[in-house]
Amino acid sequence: MVDRNGSTLAEIDLGLPGHFSGKVRESWILPEGRRVLVTTDRLSAFDRVIGLVEHKGQVLNQLAAWWFDRTSSIVQNHVIEVPDPNVLIARDVTPLPVEVIMRSRLTGSTDTSMLPKYLAGERKLYGYDMPEGLTPHCALPDLMLTPTTKAQDGGHDTPVTVAEVADSGIVAPDVWAEVCKVARSLFEFGIATAEAAGLILADTKYEFGLDASNNLVLIDEVHTADSSRYWLAEGLEDRLAQGQGPENFDKEPLRLALREAGYSGDGQIPTLSEQTWKDVSNRYVFLYEALTGTSFVPGQRPIADRIKKSMAAYTG
Ligand SMILES: Nc1ncnc2c1ncn2[C@@H]1O[C@H](COP(=O)(O)OP(=O)(O)O)[C@@H](O)[C@H]1O
Ligand SMILES: [Mg+2]
Repeated sequence: MVDRNGSTLAEIDLGLPGHFSGKVRESWILPEGRRVLVTTDRLSAFDRVIGLVEHKGQVLNQLAAWWFDRTSSIVQNHVIEVPDPNVLIARDVTPLPVEVIMRSRLTGSTDTSMLPKYLAGERKLYGYDMPEGLTPHCALPDLMLTPTTKAQDGGHDTPVTVAEVADSGIVAPDVWAEVCKVARSLFEFGIATAEAAGLILADTKYEFGLDASNNLVLIDEVHTADSSRYWLAEGLEDRLAQGQGPENFDKEPLRLALREAGYSGDGQIPTLSEQTWKDVSNRYVFLYEALTGTSFVPGQRPIADRIKKSMAAYTG
């Protein structure tokens, strides 16, 4: 991974216990049931880390914080405080073993996505009967909830149906019923909020956990460009009518660039142009500004040094 001009955060070591390194976040345990989550500038696609994107970590952390704040009347969340642009102090909870994906559009470019499957003639997707006559990227007849079981240690997530989660008992029935209800409410709120900003929230992923008293808690990130597909609303119908794809403000352009370079998840990751990386960065920043209605202000650099200073009170 190339750190262009010291302007990105690839990794960081806070020297705290219970270190966990995800594809995008580094996290550690703090006393009193807390967890620190540092969002790096790593970009993952096809379940692999592909490279570094300037401003991405800060955008994700601050945009998630913005959404957590706005959705707190729908469901409680893990946020305690944001001591630094790239850092979240969260309540440490037990994550549910399933992730919840909500979809409003028939889309996707990877083999396991809905659109390629539908175009290949599949009419039963994620347990749902799909009608004939749907066109690429069209609005789905109803919002769809499609769970996946969480991959362990670098594996791929496995799709399951709503009924399979209920039947398997991996999530208690009352908890699962609440998850389904809350995910729909969050997604409806997300769609309406995005629409007001001229954007379409095509799909998104939620992670939930249970606190010590078994309360449902929204964790990880919410409605960010990493966990969601966002499209520009203006001109969408024209683009689709001309057989073009939507204008994306998420990881999709990167996936498409990789695919164009012949990559679909296996083997050597191709080198992408500086312009492609810059473009991805600009899109993350654009999305933040469009949704929050505020200008993005980059935090001080070097990022790792700044974070360590912000965390001094916690690391002792
Ligand atoms: N409040 C929380 N309590 C416990 N675990 C959490 C919390 N919030 C997020 N996590 C977990 O921390 C990890 C975040 O790192 P990330 O890089 O996003 O991981 P991944 O590679 O699984 O996407 C995820 O595994 C997520 O489930
Ligand atoms: Mg994640």
